[in-house]
Amino acid sequence: MRRVIGSTNIEVFPIGLGAMPLSIQDRPDKEQAEAVIVAAVEAGVEFIDTANCYCIDNTDFGHNERLISAAMKNLPRGAQVTIATKGGLTRPEGRWETDGRPESLRRACEQSLRNLDVDTIVLYQYHAPDSSVPFTDSVGELARLREEGKIQHVGLSNVDRHHVDAAREIVPIVSVQNRCHVLYKHDLNSGLLDYCGKAGITYIPYSPVGGGRGHKRLPQVATLSEIAAGHDTSVYCVALAWLLHKGQHVLPIPGASRAASIADSVKAVRCDLIDIGHDPVEVTR
Ligand SMILES: NC(=O)c1ccc[n+]([C@@H]2O[C@H](COP(=O)([O-])OP(=O)(O)OC[C@H]3O[C@@H](n4cnc5c(N)ncnc54)[C@H](OP(=O)(O)O)[C@@H]3O)[C@@H](O)[C@H]2O)c1
Repeated sequence: MRRVIGSTNIEVFPIGLGAMPLSIQDRPDKEQAEAVIVAAVEAGVEFIDTANCYCIDNTDFGHNERLISAAMKNLPRGAQVTIATKGGLTRPEGRWETDGRPESLRRACEQSLRNLDVDTIVLYQYHAPDSSVPFTDSVGELARLREEGKIQHVGLSNVDRHHVDAAREIVPIVSVQNRCHVLYKHDLNSGLLDYCGKAGITYIPYSPVGGGRGHKRLPQVATLSEIAAGHDTSVYCVALAWLLHKGQHVLPIPGASRAASIADSVKAVRCDLIDIGHDPVEVTR
């Protein structure tokens, strides 16, 4: 049930924490945010997803990475957490804009090292292709950062099969992070999720319970509610268990701004969908 990240020897609990809600609009105060991170780790989480751009706007760029770094100091003794971050987006006046220029990625990575207070970043993900920069130039810079030891492994995000293939020509790719949940199945339909499994790439579904606002739709989906009631669990756990059942290479990263949310989400590993006669995906188009 544990997940191995791509071709690495890093093994983690199958549910990670998506830390974005702790730093964007409507974020909780610092005390609550740190409590969410500590609660996640206490519940078994060993993988935390962040990004330099998880903040309100460019004036507090790096907020989420600094928050996680601070929270790491309050973890139970011996806790092992893999922190995956990303570069390639900026937040001018709160907008989300791509910047995949090699020199920008290098600067972003070096800033992330300082924010996280580490010598090397275990998993560095290119956040989203920048249409104004050749994709291979951006990935080439990540390959150089890897050669220099500033990052150990490279992941991609918001990509399609062509991006993955092009990147793999340049550097080993250990993860792909794309939007995927019971109500958004693009990578299942395109075959990218399966392709990642066959290629030994960890597939990290983001917004796995529907997204920051979209998660409120899940309780309204009758099939999910029925399955949840039948399994004495939450609709969120059913949605996460559904993703976990898509393959041993799938590592969902539910977000949380409340400790109770992530404490519930980790229970998805105990929700066995095999005994359900139908796949909720078929009825929740
Ligand atoms: N690569 C990318 O471009 C990209 C884009 C989006 C997200 N991400 C990553 O993916 C992570 C997850 O995505 P997301 O945060 O957008 O959406 P999400 O995980 O689908 O939904 C997050 C929201 O769902 C609620 N929630 C989650 N589990 C719950 C549970 N068991 N019970 C009740 N409520 C629950 C949380 O509510 P509360 O806030 O009340 O706790 C949270 O705000 C992000 O945090 C980020 O790390 C990456």
